[in-house]
Amino acid sequence: MIPQAFIQDLIARIDIVDLIQRYVPLKKTGANYSACCPFHNEKTPSFTVSPSKQFYHCFGCGAHGTAISFLMEHAGLGFVDAVKELAQQLGLEVPEEGPALSGTEREQRRSLIDVMSTAARFYREQLKSSPRAIDYLKRRGLTGEIAARFGIGYAPDGWQSLDKAFPKYDDSGLAEAGLVIDNEAGRRYDRFRDRIMFPIQDARGNVIAFGGRILDAGEPKYLNSPETPLFEKGRELYGLPQARVGIRETGTVIVVEGYMDVVALAQYGVNNAVATLGTATTPTHVQKLLRQAERLVFCFDGDKAGRKAARRGLEASLPHLADGKTVSFLFLPAEHDPDSFVRERGAEAFQLAIRDATPLGRFLLDTLAEGCDLQTAEGRAHLVHNAKEFVPKIAAQVLRLQIVRDLAAAAQLSPEETSAALGLAPPPRPAFEPFQKGDWQKGRFGKKSLPAPEPRVGVVPLEQQLLRILLARPRLGDKVPLALVDLLPETAERATVMAIIDACEDGTLLDAPLGAWIEHFRDSTHEAAITRAMQSIEEGYVDESKLEETLRGLLDRLELQAVETELKNLQIQVASGRADNSSAARLGSLLAKKQKLKSGQTV
Ligand code: CTP
Ligand code: MN
Repeated sequence: MIPQAFIQDLIARIDIVDLIQRYVPLKKTGANYSACCPFHNEKTPSFTVSPSKQFYHCFGCGAHGTAISFLMEHAGLGFVDAVKELAQQLGLEVPEEGPALSGTEREQRRSLIDVMSTAARFYREQLKSSPRAIDYLKRRGLTGEIAARFGIGYAPDGWQSLDKAFPKYDDSGLAEAGLVIDNEAGRRYDRFRDRIMFPIQDARGNVIAFGGRILDAGEPKYLNSPETPLFEKGRELYGLPQARVGIRETGTVIVVEGYMDVVALAQYGVNNAVATLGTATTPTHVQKLLRQAERLVFCFDGDKAGRKAARRGLEASLPHLADGKTVSFLFLPAEHDPDSFVRERGAEAFQLAIRDATPLGRFLLDTLAEGCDLQTAEGRAHLVHNAKEFVPKIAAQVLRLQIVRDLAAAAQLSPEETSAALGLAPPPRPAFEPFQKGDWQKGRFGKKSLPAPEPRVGVVPLEQQLLRILLARPRLGDKVPLALVDLLPETAERATVMAIIDACEDGTLLDAPLGAWIEHFRDSTHEAAITRAMQSIEEGYVDESKLEETLRGLLDRLELQAVETELKNLQIQVASGRADNSSAARLGSLLAKKQKLKSGQTV
């Protein structure tokens, strides 16, 4: 855990314009800056960055967030890495709380990264002086340029070649980095010998592991680094730093199985492929990739293992699906992997195949129906039984609804019956309105989500209006009496308004830019309500020049509501003969108050 205070400090100190400028050319337009949105394709700029709010927003695709969100979405960093990156830019140390990395662990990581980068340099140099290795790469169709781009190297055929790369071959770091093996006799030797070396990099380009391929036939064909403090297989993807630009340009990421697939595709100009590292796709992989791309295409070998891998990809995707993102599956002909396919048929044929890949919904239904005879009642029941394990895991509500409908059709049930059989809430009644309010609203900070249709201003509930005003200028929370907020219906918006007032009382955030407030509520239950309100503010539903006035008007209306409710109760008392003197006095003062509030009202 990183302390909240540090994150707020970070947001207050970092200049979001400066940060985004490094990735996207910004133009000053009034108080803000604008550019063509880096998160979707467009020709006229609808992406704006506000230095005063420390916040960005795109009117085209709805992308929005803080400097931290920007690094997460744009550079694909996780939250902690994004914070670290910003801290580093400011020359700050990230303080740690609780069981996170200790100072010595951080130092260890740092020194392991140094060890790996020294080794990578050594292997690259060795490649230059090994005609045999160069010849192997040439035979596989790779140019020197692509080899350099992926930092491909060669581990020479000796037991202790790394002795030449490091001042001390017996340094413990070499073993911790997984570069050497200490045998029982206490003798140390290189893990990788006579192999083509593929460096595996993290999102920031640090080498964290290697995959080594044997040059001739032999076992094992690939040897990978063991898991180390730097390298956790289920999290990392080969080729991600090299694919970043390609992913951004196409909005698509292609997931393949092998190192050579990634490199061969790049050789043919397909620059948006990454590989899982000899392991099944994990939900973490999918989450990482869907943060950066609208479309994810699994492209697996045409063999049995490939189909199995696709199933694992399917399962890993379900919890991270979002409406507005698509996941598809491309099955190559049985004799091919992406490497051989692109070589034989060319990039264009590969791109066409990617375009026509099977959407997840269809692949899921096909998979579920496998082995079920849909001509029989038993077979159809079996289908629904199979679906139980998968369909409820789909996070995207609209997609899940569609799939339930398709499944219902195949099972010859109604969508309601199918939902019930799957233990899901029934689908919404009006069949012509398949979108559930709130689907888009599930979008979290920084995630792209489309704006919900905006109701006419007059019908926006008071608590929503109040929240918008508070998010436009959170310190106004100081002026809102909790007793009035108590009168609002118990919605998520009301809870968030209360949380903002609380934070105002606490005082630490009072003068912080909006971005710091947004980070304060990251991963809290208030996120969704805040996202909704921010969206409306950015779309101009709040007049930011008249916030205090609007707030006063709103509080008056709330008070009027309170007065009217109390009046009604009192009048009932009077009518039923239960009123005493004091209630009569109260009635008089309430009526006067009502009069005053009403006359002060502009609406
Ligand atoms: N793999 C591995 N260990 C092995 C075999 C495979 O880690 N013994 C991983 C590697 O990441 C490899 C991927 O699984 O890239 C796919 O394996 P495979 O299809 O056998 O290799 P290719 O990528 O086709 O490699 P090549 O074309 O060089 O034969
Ligand atoms: Mn291959």
